[in-house]
Amino acid sequence: MTRPAAGPYRIATIEGDGIGPEVTKAALAVLKAACGEDTLDFAMLNGGAGHYRATGDVLPDETMAACREMDAILHGAAGLPGVVYPDGTEVGNDLHLRLRFTLDLYANVRPIKLLKGVTSPLRAFEGGGIDYVIVRENTEGLYASRGAGVLLRGEYASDSLVITRKGTSRVARFAFALSRKRNGAPRDGRRRLTVCDKANILRSYAFFRAVCDDVHGEFPDIDIDYAYADAITVHLLKRPDFYDVIVAENMFGDIISDLGAATVGGMGISPSGEIGDSHGLFQGAHGSAPDIAGQDVASPVATILSGAMMLRWLADKHGDMALDEAAGRVETAVERVLAAGEHVPADLGGSARCSEMTTAILRALGA
Ligand code: IPM
Ligand code: MN
Repeated sequence: MTRPAAGPYRIATIEGDGIGPEVTKAALAVLKAACGEDTLDFAMLNGGAGHYRATGDVLPDETMAACREMDAILHGAAGLPGVVYPDGTEVGNDLHLRLRFTLDLYANVRPIKLLKGVTSPLRAFEGGGIDYVIVRENTEGLYASRGAGVLLRGEYASDSLVITRKGTSRVARFAFALSRKRNGAPRDGRRRLTVCDKANILRSYAFFRAVCDDVHGEFPDIDIDYAYADAITVHLLKRPDFYDVIVAENMFGDIISDLGAATVGGMGISPSGEIGDSHGLFQGAHGSAPDIAGQDVASPVATILSGAMMLRWLADKHGDMALDEAAGRVETAVERVLAAGEHVPADLGGSARCSEMTTAILRALGA
């Protein structure tokens, strides 16, 4: 194992609510085993709906400060049923949204990859046949109106869709650059960025598409492709192997990333990385699943793979290839366990407990 060039890297760790603590514990065990005990320093921090219920604060100042100062953020899950603001919106979601907006995490990276050993509901596909990444603009779009929508006399409500040249340019540039680092779509090996929008209907989406076209001029080696948000839901089911990287406005990205996740095993296996120019937040794409919290039945796979995404992001940011190597070993260990089929988590049709999946992955890591 190559020695890390730097470190220890300080990781702001927010277990959060529901299954958050157990999947975070699993990820920390695997990441420490992969990197060595003194490479990652996990600072355990408060935050989430449970903390709000106890203190009135979903994201304490000291947690926000740590997230701002430390090298990366690792999060379990947030949100509890019934813990809502007076306007009816969920408190737990505010943890994510405040971090996204305050730290300007403008690229929400959602890999959609069918791993060996995982059965897709799309029968024609098996491991390797689906491998694309959704890059969701994460700071504006319809989410720009979070907390700013109009409610009038119990009769009228509206939220504005915000598309800016700055916001679209930077997420498009991120997506094109990501495609350049990949090996193209499974179907034809072409490096391709698909712009997902409703440019046929709304000026804001036509503007989104036009800005992506402008940025394409900087990436002549990458194909550009377009798909309306309704049509792409069909394409992701009928020809998912056509896709390499997809860029979408915030709300559309939120919706199609869950659809994509469902085609490769579901939210329990789907990682995410929310990336800005200086900060990165990594978490499984799933929610807090309070109904199974504390029963050791949640799958830790999404959070473990999000931890691997974190290592790759830190490696790239600090030029520390030891972390990239460690990330590869974590991903290989996860895929080896899933392909062996002896330990299958409940969300993939098996009965392996969170702790059993964690032990199996640690064993595959040689820990
Ligand atoms: C996601 C979630 C979040 C979102 C919630 C938890 C704020 O659905 O990350 O996809 O709506 O973006
Ligand atoms: Mn979502």
